[in-house]
Amino acid sequence: MDHSVSLKVNGKAVTVQVEPRTLLVQLIRDHLKLTGTHVGCDTAQCGACTVHLNGRAVKACSILALQAQGGEVTTIEGLSPDGQHPMQVAFKDCHALQCGFCTPGMVMSAVQLLKDHPGATEQQIREGLEGNLCRCTGYHNIVRAVSAVAARG
Ligand code: FES
Ligand code: FES
Repeated sequence: MDHSVSLKVNGKAVTVQVEPRTLLVQLIRDHLKLTGTHVGCDTAQCGACTVHLNGRAVKACSILALQAQGGEVTTIEGLSPDGQHPMQVAFKDCHALQCGFCTPGMVMSAVQLLKDHPGATEQQIREGLEGNLCRCTGYHNIVRAVSAVAARG
């Protein structure tokens, strides 16, 4: 039996009918068609599905949609509605992506990281992004991009 879940996604109030087993990432991608949030492992390992829920970065494949009832979700599409977020610009400038599969989740985690640790060191950035896996870039340019934003304070 479906249940109703009401939440705000990228500032917009939505109510969706979901099965009890529906994951937050399925609500985002399948119900709301916000496909910038990716699914890699589906087992809370890769971080491709990272979004912000109530101001914290979470892996949306590890949370039931019903657990987000009354919450506020920001996806990569809502990170900077009026243009690219400085983190997205830094990823582009530093060549911090290749296939782009990990990138939305990586950016969401990096933004959270610098909220928690403005001016983060390289070590803090590497540790902060441990939950996000990239199969392409080897991380060097990703760390460079986040460091560039961190250096601006
Ligand atoms: Fe969620 Fe990999 S798809 S962590
Ligand atoms: Fe391809 Fe990270 S850019 S997985």
